[in-house]
Amino acid sequence: MKEQDHRDEELEKIEVSLLLEGIYQRYGYDFRNYSHPSIYRRIRHRLKLEGLAEISALQGSVLRDADAFRRLLSDLVIPVTELFRDPEMFLAFRRDVAPELRRLPYVRIWHAGCSTGEEVYSLAVLLHEEGLLDKARIYATDINEDALQRARDGMIPIDRMKQYTKNYLAAGGKRDFSSYYASNHGIVMLKPALREKIVFARHNLVTDSSFNEFHVVFCRNVMIYFNTQLTNQVHELFYESLAQGGFLILGGRESLSFTPLAERYETWNDAQRIYRKTM
Ligand SMILES: C[S@@+](CC[C@H](N)C(=O)[O-])C[C@H]1O[C@@H](n2cnc3c(N)ncnc32)[C@H](O)[C@@H]1O
Repeated sequence: MKEQDHRDEELEKIEVSLLLEGIYQRYGYDFRNYSHPSIYRRIRHRLKLEGLAEISALQGSVLRDADAFRRLLSDLVIPVTELFRDPEMFLAFRRDVAPELRRLPYVRIWHAGCSTGEEVYSLAVLLHEEGLLDKARIYATDINEDALQRARDGMIPIDRMKQYTKNYLAAGGKRDFSSYYASNHGIVMLKPALREKIVFARHNLVTDSSFNEFHVVFCRNVMIYFNTQLTNQVHELFYESLAQGGFLILGGRESLSFTPLAERYETWNDAQRIYRKTM
């Protein structure tokens, strides 16, 4: 690498670290241990959109102007999700986890990093079909208030429904998927009955603590954006929050292997990243 490139990279590193420290001190959002490549990419993207040349200029504007911060925040949190995303995981949940939950008098579930709610509504449909929804309470949390508001609204653009119906069937769906929603003027409205057992609330995995004991914790496609130190910290939080015999379900590119708590879980379904707390 040329000496100048190396110097630019060093400078960028300092500027990013000052920006993230400033955000933490000013707004309480802690991105200091998010993984570097992704966070750098997003900051560079915001820099371009704001027409700024340097990260220090972005820092000045973000610290002084809450709207500028909100714009950057929307880049730093990635809300991508789908109804029945990774259908094989939902199929495995039906087959391998639902029978275990049937033995319990009630079931408490936490979706950490639920984004706009698609994963949560998918689970509500599945629990309904498996006769488990009535005894379930689902807590769905995210750092991003805008995403949570969309989740509460339960609306989906109609053009996504073809793909989602395919996902639902691949996830072992047992009904006509359209019985779960009404459509009007290009918007799909999920049936309000699906929401009755769901509580949507703000919770930051980095700075907030455990708030209940759960039989299942979903945290899918969230920790891919964290560095190892933060991932281990969040695994501590989930371990604390799970009942004995509770299930932890991660995203396809995430794993409990090689984390300090791995030996306290049994691998319930390796391919679908389903783990069970054993001690
Ligand atoms: C890619 S989405 C995943 C949504 C869903 N779990 C799925 O797999 O389809 C990642 C979500 O994690 C949330 N997130 C990021 N950092 C977080 C934090 N520190 N605490 C809580 N949620 C966070 C983001 O706001 C975003 O909604």
